[in-house]
Amino acid sequence: MSDKHSTLDNLSHEDRSFAPSAAFAAQAVAHEDLYRRAAEDRLGYWADRAREVLTWDTDFTQTLDWSEAPVAKWFVGGKVNAAYNALDRHVEAGNGDRVAIHFEGEPGDTRSYTYAQLTDEVKRAANAFESLGVSTGDRVAVYLPMIPEAVITMLACARIGAIHSVVFGGFSADALRSRIDDAEAKLVVTADGTWRRGKPSPLKPAVDEAVANCAGSVDNVLVVKRNGEDVAWTDGLDLWWDDVVPAASPEHTAEGHDAEHPLFVLYTSGTTGKPKGIIHTTGGYLVQNAATHRDTFDLHPETDVFWCTADIGWVTGHSYVTYGPLVNGATQVIYEGTPDTPHQGRWWEIVEKYGVSILYTAPTAIRTMMKWGREIPDGYDLSSLRVLGSVGEPINPEAWMWYRDVIGTNAGKNGERKDEPTPIVDTWWQTETGAHMIAPLPGVTATKPGSAQVPVPGITVDVVDENGASVADGEGGYLVIRDPWPAMLRGIWGDMDRYRDTYWSRFEDMYFAGDGAKKDEDGDIWLLGRVDDVMNVSGHRLSTTEIESSLVANSLVAEAAVVGAKDETTGEAVYAFVILQREPEGGEDVVELLRAHVAKEIGAIAKPRGIFVVPELPKTRSGKIMRRLLKDVAEGREVGDSTTLADATVMAQIADSVRR
Ligand code: PRX
Repeated sequence: MSDKHSTLDNLSHEDRSFAPSAAFAAQAVAHEDLYRRAAEDRLGYWADRAREVLTWDTDFTQTLDWSEAPVAKWFVGGKVNAAYNALDRHVEAGNGDRVAIHFEGEPGDTRSYTYAQLTDEVKRAANAFESLGVSTGDRVAVYLPMIPEAVITMLACARIGAIHSVVFGGFSADALRSRIDDAEAKLVVTADGTWRRGKPSPLKPAVDEAVANCAGSVDNVLVVKRNGEDVAWTDGLDLWWDDVVPAASPEHTAEGHDAEHPLFVLYTSGTTGKPKGIIHTTGGYLVQNAATHRDTFDLHPETDVFWCTADIGWVTGHSYVTYGPLVNGATQVIYEGTPDTPHQGRWWEIVEKYGVSILYTAPTAIRTMMKWGREIPDGYDLSSLRVLGSVGEPINPEAWMWYRDVIGTNAGKNGERKDEPTPIVDTWWQTETGAHMIAPLPGVTATKPGSAQVPVPGITVDVVDENGASVADGEGGYLVIRDPWPAMLRGIWGDMDRYRDTYWSRFEDMYFAGDGAKKDEDGDIWLLGRVDDVMNVSGHRLSTTEIESSLVANSLVAEAAVVGAKDETTGEAVYAFVILQREPEGGEDVVELLRAHVAKEIGAIAKPRGIFVVPELPKTRSGKIMRRLLKDVAEGREVGDSTTLADATVMAQIADSVRR
């Protein structure tokens, strides 16, 4: 097992456990009964949920077709339109006046959309996209900030059966180019720029560079005017959103698409250099999304105000910003800015302003707020909060308890505290799983700090040893998923072999998640981080190999090894060890040059925190780099067992260079 696994032994036993209050349990939407129903008849359970949470144009005739495993077909024969389910049906049901989105930009820059208004906008965008020649099955790349047009674009694509491929706005022009090319996107939707810490920050130049260098699939670039900065313009290619979308008709009939029609492709990092285009399809994805969004967060759509702080560039933003909340008819907040601009109380100000009742965020953010001090949230009225969610990385028990004690008991800005803290739900899932897989039910499960605990109803996960045998309680191993699930990925865009190899070949008939996990004495599951070459920095997934490839692509670098070292706030931080081919000519600082190079090639999120120039890398006799030893160095620990190194003196040389 990899080095990450050694954390297994360090894991302390957790005795604290918090049962739901009687008052919470009494009003909860999800009950114990869901587990029983799912255990008795898993497929029957999902068929029931499918008919409960979605409005189908044509009912399905078979719940699961697994005859071509590991390629799954769920809800076979069913036809459904994602945008109709997220929009029109709520208007038809008389909820057109309910707010769908409260958008919050820089202070003072706000907009709200009711379901009726959002439906109108999406219909116009759908007509506009069709008028630009986009039709069912075509790919649309989306490179937008967290503004309502991002959601409108995704839903307009879904409405007409076009497949959106959202690329996080923090990715570089190169990263965008490779994603446009891989998906052969026909249309790119972007903005002139965004606002970052009170200042305009450009987006379109990256699109210009990407499109200029791509293979030629792009017919048009549709540009939302967001920050009003001047942008370069190519007639015949670039179009302003404002010239095209508002002029389009607000009449558009949504047709049902096959349940297995692709809804989106989302690129994520794997263990090789090339990002994988994860494919999700319409029916199964939406069913598990809507069901988990309702159950895990105890959603009461008439009264709750939901806020997921994730960007739409990540799967969390797809599942729990664009789809789950809207399919469930909820009111949600979307925020474009950062947590500390114009001040460190910005998030809590937003919670107070909109009366947010369900907050969903990442442990990195919670740890950052811990560092800033509890006086900040204590200064706001957070009494509206009633469920707190966590996602993206393991949440340490200290952060979990702080979330509960500081945020979860706040009953007013004058120090009032709630008698019953709000439940915390830690949710484990992945881009590939599409929706929550392991999470407590807030009205049912007695929650435990630091553990995601139990599979959601209808999901079968396990922790297995090297040979795929289930481990006993109290033991650790690899996290697997035993049975196909509705929101599972259907493949990797253009590379079905890689799909089989990556997820279905490590263990027979089981999905290998790439995470280490442990079952505690109660059988609850603890997630222990990745066991492969994937790093998790602030809940963002990065590949060591991808960063290594980017480094060696620079002519200064002969060899590179990248590791994720433990970091108190961000979970992990990127450290690179490089052997230079030559020194930079102009006498520039090579470390800064290389950090900037990675930011340019991949994006600022991938920029190594530290780069060490070393004379050698630690390799085994067969030439494999022993990253474990480099991790020891990056974490400032005594270097572990290095007896299998081909050259025993290498670690001393490295330590020497790092010291210097
Ligand atoms: O290692 C796990 C970690 O994030 C990985 C998935 O990353 P991504 O596809 O970007 O999706 C993130 C948002 C769903 C997983 O393999 N991870 C996600 N949630 C948790 C987690 N690790 C521990 N606890 C979690 N709750």
